[in-house]
Amino acid sequence: MGYLSDKKEEHEKACEAAIRAGDAALAGMHAAKAADFCFALAKQTGGAVSSSYVSTAEGWLEIAEKLKTARLPKAPQPVGDVGKAAEPASGAAAGSEFEVAEIPSVSFDDIAGMASAKATIMEMIVYPMREPEKARAMKLKPGGGVILYGPPGNGKTMFGKAIAHEINAPFFYASGAQLRSKWHGESEQNLSRLLKAAQAHPVAVLFLDEIDGLLPRRTASSSVVDNRIVTQFLADVGGFRESENALLILGATNEPWSIDEAVFRTGRFDEKIYIGLPDAEARDALFAKAFDGVSCAADVDLASVAKSLEGYTGSDIVGIAKKARQAAFRRSIEQAADPQVTKEDVEAALRAIPSSVTPALVARYEKFNRERFQ
Ligand SMILES: Nc1ncnc2c1ncn2[C@@H]1O[C@H](COP(=O)(O)OP(=O)(O)O)[C@@H](O)[C@H]1O
Ligand SMILES: [Mg+2]
Repeated sequence: MGYLSDKKEEHEKACEAAIRAGDAALAGMHAAKAADFCFALAKQTGGAVSSSYVSTAEGWLEIAEKLKTARLPKAPQPVGDVGKAAEPASGAAAGSEFEVAEIPSVSFDDIAGMASAKATIMEMIVYPMREPEKARAMKLKPGGGVILYGPPGNGKTMFGKAIAHEINAPFFYASGAQLRSKWHGESEQNLSRLLKAAQAHPVAVLFLDEIDGLLPRRTASSSVVDNRIVTQFLADVGGFRESENALLILGATNEPWSIDEAVFRTGRFDEKIYIGLPDAEARDALFAKAFDGVSCAADVDLASVAKSLEGYTGSDIVGIAKKARQAAFRRSIEQAADPQVTKEDVEAALRAIPSSVTPALVARYEKFNRERFQ
């Protein structure tokens, strides 16, 4: 028993190492061996334990199969053909339940701040899509992998949608929790189906929310399923990089420190973009937009309120503005008068909605940024 599970683990680890090294053939051999040892363990055990070994074995066989055709990236190499026109190809049936059929309507202009995040995405996918000849001449292929991380409520999801809008592409969305159905064995299939569905389009944005839930950091106590999902993900993503499609995979997380480290290594996600709290200019823009065309009393000083909201998230700020507008609306109904936002409405909203992130949490992201990426 000890021998078999040691061997199983040895091959599982070797498989992952080979994937990382870009050797699909070697990885496939180890995946098949891991399956063999799982089957052997299934024979030695009984009941639920035995059937869980069988399903693990099947998972490894599936990975082995996939690795036969996967071309893993040897090193970061953004070379290849630029994708074709933006019409979805036919045959996208499988996995299309994840697809948000419409191209999102929110655009880069709707997003306050995030100048450097926008610039990075423009270079990765927007310009190469808009200027295919120039991109091809420079051997640059649109698409790739990006991790968006930062405190909740600062526009990660919104940014993903806006990217799809900018390149006029379908937006696929799934959360880690959604993919990790409680039937563990299925989550790998879900993930593969989703990747296939996105790849059926010549251009697509795939947004994996709460990627920490899908690809958790592996520890001695991680389940075999966790380990396998991470391995499978790395294999799948290795394959997509080589494909002809312009696929942008965005992995979003509020907890970058909980993600498996292999996910961060070059070759899978080229860019890691921190989406932090809005700066003074972005807060101004958020407020200006929230009150654009809204009647405000002369003593309402939006700029100075925006200035005072350091440490608030984008969604806190949008929420405060909405609360103030609602109060003015309520009063206008009660008094049968024209609605107008007053200074008191804004102050009451500020009292009602405190910042949703603590300085300690912000400090944790800053520490993470320093230690990991600088
Ligand atoms: N930079 C921003 N520009 C415009 N709206 C924002 C911004 N940040 C947050 N918001 C508002 O907050 C809401 C929540 O943002 P969301 O994208 O869900 O954040 P996250 O995915 O980072 O948790 C958005 O729908 C939007 O109304
Ligand atoms: Mg989100």
